[in-house]
Parts: sequence; structure tokens; C-alpha cells
Amino acid sequence: LVPMVTLSHGAVMPRVGLGTSPMGDAEAERAVAEALEAGFRLVDTAEAYRNEVGVGRGLKGTPREELFVTSKFNKQWHSVDGVRTTLEASAERLGLEYLDLLLIHWPNPDQDRYVDAWRGLIELREAGLVRAIGTSNFKPSHLQRVIDETGVAPEVNQIQLSPLWTKQENRDFHAQHGIVTEAWSPIGKGSDLLERPVLLEIARAHGKTPAQVVLRWEVQLGVVPIPKSANRQRLEQNLALFDFELTDDEMAQLSALDGSGSVPADSDRFGH
Ligand code: A2P
Repeated sequence: LVPMVTLSHGAVMPRVGLGTSPMGDAEAERAVAEALEAGFRLVDTAEAYRNEVGVGRGLKGTPREELFVTSKFNKQWHSVDGVRTTLEASAERLGLEYLDLLLIHWPNPDQDRYVDAWRGLIELREAGLVRAIGTSNFKPSHLQRVIDETGVAPEVNQIQLSPLWTKQENRDFHAQHGIVTEAWSPIGKGSDLLERPVLLEIARAHGKTPAQVVLRWEVQLGVVPIPKSANRQRLEQNLALFDFELTDDEMAQLSALDGSGSVPADSDRFGH
């Protein structure tokens, strides 16, 4: 069983989850079903991934109260009424009565309506239509503004994070405000992270795969990773993170990879 973290408004979230981008409906249905069999309970999707119908099919058969389902919405819904409309539409596509966590997918500061979206999310949580609310890809400046204008901090902020982009400042800000950090692309997709010698050595020392070591590094930082996999063996690997521990020195060696990736952080902004 996966350990849990309690969010600031009381919802309880698994400490590792399944990412579903990029997956179409058919692949998502199969991957989600396999992930649930393997023991995953947190499943992360988004309106933008266009796979909520498939994800919802994959969820069938598991008791609702065991699941922790996250979705996110696009910028046209950044208004108090818009977030209610998009939540109802997401829930309908997923075949669920409520969502566990709903996130503003991007702040879209050009449009500058994310504070309105946030006010809408606060109302939805109060109405019981969603258990927990948060943001994704928000910088500390965006979070600060939301907090200043509404007095309510997001429960979760989901950002791109891996040993190549450790996001120390973001994590410090989150910690100050009781915000749980979720990591997308937690194993550094598109980079050479999993081949770095330092990582291979640590993996060998623990009898774990490089991906497991990276995910464990995140868990030990208090970050909730949501690796994407559509492969049964790798799904199982990605859950087996709670039977070993990295030393402080190993944690530091991995954190020292910060900034050494060739892909700039958040460059993949339309992929997630
Ligand atoms: P696959 O679906 O074939 O397993 P991220 O979540 O960081 O974006 O990374 C997702 C990518 O990493 C996918 O291409 C996925 O491929 C691959 N992947 C997922 N889990 C593992 C693992 N344990 N070891 C190696 N590659 C993995």
C-alpha cells in the first residue's frame, strides 16, 4: 500500500501517482486499469490530454472511495462560473460524481484571469463538488497573488521537477504555505537523466532501477511524483519506492544535477 499525505483542507492523497500524458483514450483505459491492478490509486489527467473518457473507463471496478482522481482545465474556463462548468464536464467524461483534486492547468498570465478561476475553485470545494483544489505550473509570484487576493492557498501545485530541475525556491515557497508539490515529468523524460553515471551507481548500490532512485529522491523531498507509464513492469517499479532509503549524501549527489539538463525547465509546456 502506498503511503499518504494529508492536504491542507483534509483530503488524503497517495504519495505517488500515475501520469497519463501523452495517452489517447484506448491506451489510457488499459494503462489505468493495469496501474490500479499494480496498486496505484492516484490517477492524474487533464482536459488538455483529451483522454478523460478512457481514464474513466479504466477506473471502472475499483471502489470510488479508494481512488484519488485529479483533473485540470484549460484557460477558457478561468472565471467563477467557468470552473463549475468545466468540473461538471470533466466529471461527466470521467464517469464520476466528484473529483478528488482539480487544478488550474496553467496560470496563463497573458490572460490574467487565474485569480477568478481560483475564487471559483474555492466555491466548488465549499459546495463539496471537489475534495481538494490546487494549481499547476504556478510560479511563487502567481501563488503569492492568489494568496494575497483570496486569503486561501492552493493545496497542491504541480510543476515540472526532477534532479535536473530541483525547483528549490518553488519548494521552499510551497512549504511556507502548506502547499504539497507534485512533480510532472518526474523522471526527466526527453533528457539523459536515467543514464547519468552518478544515478547508475546509486541504483546499483540499492538494487533498484535508476527511475526508482529518482522517484525515491522525490518522495524523500516530500514531493509527490506522477510518472507516466503504459508498461506493466514499469508501473510496478514506479510503486516500489517504499522499501529503501537514500542517504543524505546520495540525496545531495542527485540534487547536484540541478541545472545540468539540456532541456530548459517548462520548455515542454504544451505537452503537459
Ligand atoms: P513507458 O510508458 O513505456 O513506461 P515522465 O513521467 O517523466 O514524463 O516519463 C515518462 C516516460 O518514461 C515514458 O516514456 C515512460 O515510458 C518512461 N518510463 C516510465 N516509467 C519508467 C521506468 N520505471 N523506467 C524507465 N522508463 C520509464
